[in-house]
Amino acid sequence: MINKYGDKDKVTYEQQAKIQQEIEAAIAYLFASEDEGLQQALALVRDEGLPQIQISSIQGKLLQLLATACHARKILEIGALAGYSGIWLARALPADGRLISLEINAKNAELIRRTFMHAGVADRTEVRVGNALALLPHLLDEAPFDLVFIDADKQPYPHYLDWALRLTQPGSIIVADNTIAGGAALCAKAERNERQQGLFEYNKRASSDPRLLSLALAIDNNFTDGFTISVVREAPSQTGVANADYA
Ligand SMILES: C[S@@+](CC[C@H](N)C(=O)[O-])C[C@H]1O[C@@H](n2cnc3c(N)ncnc32)[C@H](O)[C@@H]1O
Repeated sequence: MINKYGDKDKVTYEQQAKIQQEIEAAIAYLFASEDEGLQQALALVRDEGLPQIQISSIQGKLLQLLATACHARKILEIGALAGYSGIWLARALPADGRLISLEINAKNAELIRRTFMHAGVADRTEVRVGNALALLPHLLDEAPFDLVFIDADKQPYPHYLDWALRLTQPGSIIVADNTIAGGAALCAKAERNERQQGLFEYNKRASSDPRLLSLALAIDNNFTDGFTISVVREAPSQTGVANADYA
């Protein structure tokens, strides 16, 4: 299918969507295959009747790549479900590294611990149960973190960004999931619910805060959703600040 059309062929919307799906599947197959540990985390989500809202394998591999690139020794995850993204992150850590996953749901926390054990990363991971906004202030003593991954409830995303900035240092990476939301989290004129408003505010701040170098990447759900990735700068930017007005 991917090679079926020539440069000059008109491709319909359905054909385009199919091509995108095939490209996504090919990338996942080539670069982000799931071993038994990751598959077990997905099976647990299904078996326990949880919503299948974990990141994709491509996103997992990107998290792993970013954690490796910044030589992460300490990673913080906000919102962990059944541990799928946590496995990808923990596997980028050295043997004495640490992943702390915050999860509001105590039943999920038990699943996450099982998942981490099964995937062989229990020795470098810890799950803390509670509302992230209540748990985050207690992490100040354990900062700085080299990477923070934000994937919990969407409305407080701007607050999570504030905390991520407090808990990181120059060179650290902050990643937030679901920050495209079909365009609602990016386009000023889009109609938004409260959840999407939180995501929109997040992007507005991430793109204009001089302490950050950021980019939103549409890499999930047929390129309609994805991550906002930010690097904490060595020195605040004087120039090139993104358009905070969102024309
Ligand atoms: C999208 S899922 C996380 C998926 C996970 N990061 C993955 O990709 O495998 C969101 C998780 O955040 C948790 N959550 C929601 N609100 C939270 C809060 N205020 N504090 C901590 N966890 C929260 C939910 O219980 C859920 O497990």
